[in-house]
Amino acid sequence: MTFRQLFDPASSTYTYLIADDSTHEAVLIDPVIEQLERDLALLRDNGLALRYTLDTHVHADHVTAAQAIKQALGVSAITQSNEKAGSGLQTAVSRDCNAAGYDRYLTDGDVILFGHEEILVIATPGHTAGSVSFLWRDRVFTGDALLIGGCGRTDFQSGSAETLYHSITVKLFALDEQVLVYPGHDYKGRRVSSIGEEKLFNARITGKTKEAFVQTMASLGLPTPKRIHEAVPANLVGGAELPAGLRAPGSTAIADRQSLSVQQFSDQWRKADASDRALLIDVRTPAEFFQEHVDGAENIPLDQLDAIALMARAGLRQPIFIICQTGTRSQLATERLRAAGMAHVVHVDGGTNAWRMAGLPLAKQGAAR
Ligand SMILES: [Fe+2]
Repeated sequence: MTFRQLFDPASSTYTYLIADDSTHEAVLIDPVIEQLERDLALLRDNGLALRYTLDTHVHADHVTAAQAIKQALGVSAITQSNEKAGSGLQTAVSRDCNAAGYDRYLTDGDVILFGHEEILVIATPGHTAGSVSFLWRDRVFTGDALLIGGCGRTDFQSGSAETLYHSITVKLFALDEQVLVYPGHDYKGRRVSSIGEEKLFNARITGKTKEAFVQTMASLGLPTPKRIHEAVPANLVGGAELPAGLRAPGSTAIADRQSLSVQQFSDQWRKADASDRALLIDVRTPAEFFQEHVDGAENIPLDQLDAIALMARAGLRQPIFIICQTGTRSQLATERLRAAGMAHVVHVDGGTNAWRMAGLPLAKQGAAR
């Protein structure tokens, strides 16, 4: 794997590049618009195809490069390798940021797959309502939730000191003490810490009750970030765009739909004749499937899902729909199948729970076919 910690001196922001060396697929965490050229050159020079830009939150101190990178890759050499690999690039941020213009909206527990790597999304609100951390292997990228020896401020963007206390002490401090902490910023030249070190030495939080922490945060008296009036509105739509002349034709086209609501799906599914229906794969366990399932669905548990076999079977019966109980496993399955080159896989948002709540019928006690 390739890992780089990059720095923007004007905003003291760290951007992270992670790449799978076997597939040459990469993600960028918290790219900064002023460093667009640096990041594009890094991708190009290392022959990497960017799969995701991940923002830990809507930043108040710099503008994200998410949108601009997506557009720029339409005209750079990297696009060719993206095309060769048959897959594109998605911009992602937490659903709780209420931002528009991203391709994917993340929630706690989501898994981001690229190459043979996975990143787990951990919701760590408090600095902002939509702040998340990204756990990859033995490293956690904490944005402004947990900084080295400190934490992000909580006095704007729906911040909450109580919530941040919980995010740090309950969620992040639950990670193994060896896990390395890579923050969104550092103003003193420090680059990395660990969960163990932060538990012991974080001046803002170590040894403090929630009440004492809330009091500390309320008395910081920090000035408003210089660029907040420019950065927040821009970041709420994925950051600044490239000038129109630099964009590749069609580079802003909306990606294929990756999910459907139960209502949208059931309209299509129930209208179609059983003989020419698309495949609906239920990725729950056989026991769950046996209890109740959507009539006509086929049970292939998540751990037995085989993209090649499925592709051979599906043939022209596309798209393939994936369902589970709540939408988590189906999303994971969809990501995996898409990563394996199946472009038309769509998961049913909310799963059989949402199906039942919408008053739609479920077949009971059918055997898995
Ligand atoms: Fe921030």
